[in-house]
Amino acid sequence: MQSAEIRKRFLTFFEKRGHAIIPSASLVPENDPSVLFNTAGMQPLVPYLLGAPHPMGTRIADVQKCVRIGDIEDIGDNRHFSFFEMLGNWSLGDYFKEDAIKWSYEFLMSKDEGLGLDPSRLYVTIFEGDENAPYDQESKDIWMSLGIPEQRIYALPADDNWWSPGDNGPCGPCSEMFYDMTENGIGDLDKDGFVKATKEETIIEIWNDVFMEYEKKDGKVIGKLSQKNVDTGAGLERITAVMQGRKTAYETDLIAPVIEKIRIEARNFNDRYARIVADHLRTALFMTADGVIPSNKDRGYILRRLIRRATVRSLKLHFMNEIAVDLLNIYRDKYKDIYPEIAAPKNISVITDEMVKFKKTVEEGMKEFEKGTDPFELATTYGFPIELTLELAREKGHTVDMDDFRKKMAEHQKLSQSASAGMFKGGLANHNEKTIRLHTAHHLLLAALQEVLGKGVHQRGSNITEERLRIDFAFDRKMTDEEKKKVEDLVNEKIKMGLNVIRREMPKEEAVQLGAEMEFGAKYADVVSIYFIEDKEGSVFSKEFCGGPHVTNTSELGQFKILKEEAVSQGVRRIKAVLT
Ligand code: SER
Repeated sequence: MQSAEIRKRFLTFFEKRGHAIIPSASLVPENDPSVLFNTAGMQPLVPYLLGAPHPMGTRIADVQKCVRIGDIEDIGDNRHFSFFEMLGNWSLGDYFKEDAIKWSYEFLMSKDEGLGLDPSRLYVTIFEGDENAPYDQESKDIWMSLGIPEQRIYALPADDNWWSPGDNGPCGPCSEMFYDMTENGIGDLDKDGFVKATKEETIIEIWNDVFMEYEKKDGKVIGKLSQKNVDTGAGLERITAVMQGRKTAYETDLIAPVIEKIRIEARNFNDRYARIVADHLRTALFMTADGVIPSNKDRGYILRRLIRRATVRSLKLHFMNEIAVDLLNIYRDKYKDIYPEIAAPKNISVITDEMVKFKKTVEEGMKEFEKGTDPFELATTYGFPIELTLELAREKGHTVDMDDFRKKMAEHQKLSQSASAGMFKGGLANHNEKTIRLHTAHHLLLAALQEVLGKGVHQRGSNITEERLRIDFAFDRKMTDEEKKKVEDLVNEKIKMGLNVIRREMPKEEAVQLGAEMEFGAKYADVVSIYFIEDKEGSVFSKEFCGGPHVTNTSELGQFKILKEEAVSQGVRRIKAVLT
């Protein structure tokens, strides 16, 4: 059964049972600042679960687009996807456990109206009870009345069988359905055996009925809601895999055509990389369709991160950039009838433009790699991920001295930390307004030097007093008057544009991958602070590892002026500059 048929059957089944069908809400939540993307089918319905009347009534069914990024590193295994569709039927203070369970079961098992699954392969769980709510005997009785043997019903604690979208909002105990995916069927299992089989994924979760009659505040269940709701959710990806006899949705009609195209085009096929590309491009397409564009914060940053991860993997797979367009078109054609917003051509160009930009950075690193540049320098100076170096080296039959790399990295970090301590003592001990403004000007200056003199320019030292800033940077000759003027003008232009200065925290590796400037003076913890100065169109003029502080907008800086440019030592120049 194809995915489109599953969606259709699901909605028709519940429509026949009095449910109004509503379209998926946007991936971008409308009135919920607590999440960047809808992570569950229930999110757009929270107000109604809390008691507001829904214009379509008390029985609703839908297929909701969802994004979950938390486990991005797991993507590529059988179960994890950054995007998925949730089939859901909803009772807003209408029916409760009896109908919810009965209909879930009926839909799963009915050959005519539903999926026609094999009841002897079904296992279910119920909530075992705790201080918030009792053992769910009612659900157990309902399951038994449907013919599920008692030994296939497992009572589990809140970790497994209490569903809530976060620390706040509607929540409640749940009853989950699991399906045996083995060829011959496992048969009866005790609780330990069942839990083990779910971990090994021979038995997989396919449906969750949540009985939302409680409310959480700040992580604590505070009591019952004014109405008893049902939130059921079945992941379309999982269900489709089950229906097509596959272990994973990567092998179903939802994603397999993209994987196959990659298999044909890749010079260097690798299943995991192909899955990462296929997963991330699909998610990126749905994000752009809902108006997200790549940037350095919030949603835009997540989108950018997905696109960049996909780009790195596509380079490893060695397929041409044009292929990305083909892959995105496969998805567009697959989904456009169900999600018309997918069809807009700009969705694809937003993604491929970002891919091209990032590919340039990576390719620059590749050239350096060919020249035999040291992996440490590749990583720190060119933002070229060490995993790519390893991969390329392996292809060429070379080895990478990882001990040496780690040693240099560690030294680099130590050095940076002491430089940081020194710098903050010498230059920025006094965080008054003047030094803060000069500090931001310092970032603009470094970015301007790189734009005028080339990417090879990197900071070698820094000192800021209340009166002036000083930067030492790697460059092997005297700057011409014309170059100095250009740099000065560029900084003043960026000041006039009134650009926002934005601080983001992110894992160090992410920052390196973004190509953030490693300022001598930044501390390299696992999570680092990066300051971005963004041009209006969302492109980034400056990005540096930096602890701050900075002004919030460049318009606060005034007029920038270079006082002096001179040599410090072989290959290192010094500029002193002021703000007037
Ligand atoms: N909210 C539940 C889930 O996401 C059921 O829809 O699993």
